Amino acid sequence: MPNAHDSWADVYDEVNRRSFGGFLDALTSRTIHAVGSIAPAGGRILDIGAGTGRLALPLAQRGYRLTAVDASSEMLAILRCKAARLGIGGLRTVTASAVHLLTTLPRGEFDLALLVFSVVSYLVSEQELRRAAVGIGNALADDRYIFSPALTPPCRGTRRPEEPTPSRRRHRRTAAPERVRPGRSGYDPRRCR
Ligand SMILES: C[S@@+](CC[C@H](N)C(=O)[O-])C[C@H]1O[C@@H](n2cnc3c(N)ncnc32)[C@H](O)[C@@H]1O
Repeated sequence: MPNAHDSWADVYDEVNRRSFGGFLDALTSRTIHAVGSIAPAGGRILDIGAGTGRLALPLAQRGYRLTAVDASSEMLAILRCKAARLGIGGLRTVTASAVHLLTTLPRGEFDLALLVFSVVSYLVSEQELRRAAVGIGNALADDRYIFSPALTPPCRGTRRPEEPTPSRRRHRRTAAPERVRPGRSGYDPRRCR
């Protein structure tokens, strides 16, 4: 069944680049660093709401074994295209909602689960949050972690004092509405199903 995020998968990276620029690059680096401090080398990572692979791809390049889950098959198709272009093999993708992980993923397989960059905000009821939490708990090995930083990119009027000023300035500068044309990704998802 089509998912709302299917419609912008092709321009997702470009929209993020224009909207957040260096802030997102810095967030990516910091997240990868944080993952490196809690996941065992070569560990099995479950990236839930993986999108087009902002984290899954560089983590796979660092030797982690990635399973990328997303409710949008189009987001995952772009991710696979990018993985193929980067020569990344062995990265598994699963098209599923986070609320259906209990019936989708094997038990106790993963060392770390990621829900990063507003993925939690798509779980819109207590029931959905509970179902996701139970599914993730089932998929994780004992004593393993869920990594879901509450940090979201700074938007006008919502900046928190501890967030760095330069990223806020950049966001303001690029906040004017712009049209991002389809086909920006340069990938043909039909080839990467
Ligand atoms: C803002 S993007 C974040 C992508 C990626 N985690 C990142 O850091 O760039 C949110 C992603 O969550 C996915 N998503 C939304 N609701 C979901 C759900 N219920 N289960 C799994 N993925 C979901 C969307 O399809 C989208 O790819």
